[in-house]
Amino acid sequence: MKILVINGPNINMLGIREKDIYGEKTYSDLVAFIEKSAENLGITLECFQSNSEGDIVDKIQAAYGKTDGIVINPAAYTHTSVAILDAIKAVNIPTVEVHLSDPDTREDFRKISFVRLACKKTIKGHGFEGYKMALEYLKNGSK
Ligand code: DQA
Repeated sequence: MKILVINGPNINMLGIREKDIYGEKTYSDLVAFIEKSAENLGITLECFQSNSEGDIVDKIQAAYGKTDGIVINPAAYTHTSVAILDAIKAVNIPTVEVHLSDPDTREDFRKISFVRLACKKTIKGHGFEGYKMALEYLKNGSK
C-alpha cells in the first residue's frame, strides 16, 4: 500500500513556530515519526511539504492512479483553499485531514475547513500521533 503524506505552509517551521501550540519537535522529527509509523504498518510512504498552494495541487494531481491514500495537513490552506479541495475531489483518492492542534478550539477563522468536505476523516489535536492514526485508518480500508 502506497500513501502520500502532504504538509502545507509553515509545517517546515515546527520547533521554531509557536512552540506553545505546536511543540518543540522539528519537521525532520515529524518525518522520522511518520516514516517509522509507516514502516511498522508495512506502508510505502512519500512525504511532501510545500509552502505553495499550486505545488500542493500539482502533487495531489500527480498522485492520480499511483497512490492508495493521502494524509494531508494543509495547514493555513485548510481554511482558504477551494483549489486543494477540488484537487482531492478530482483524484478521488481516500484522504485523511490531519492537524497537530485542534483548530476548532482556536480562532473562529480556523473552524472552517474547505478540505474536510473531500476527506474521509479529520484527526485533530493529537500532535504527531494524529499522522499515525491517519495511516492506520487508511491501512484498515478507511472504515
Ligand atoms: C494546523 C492548524 C492550522 O490552523 C494552521 O494554520 C497550521 C497548522 C495544525 O496542524 O494544527 O499551520 O494545520
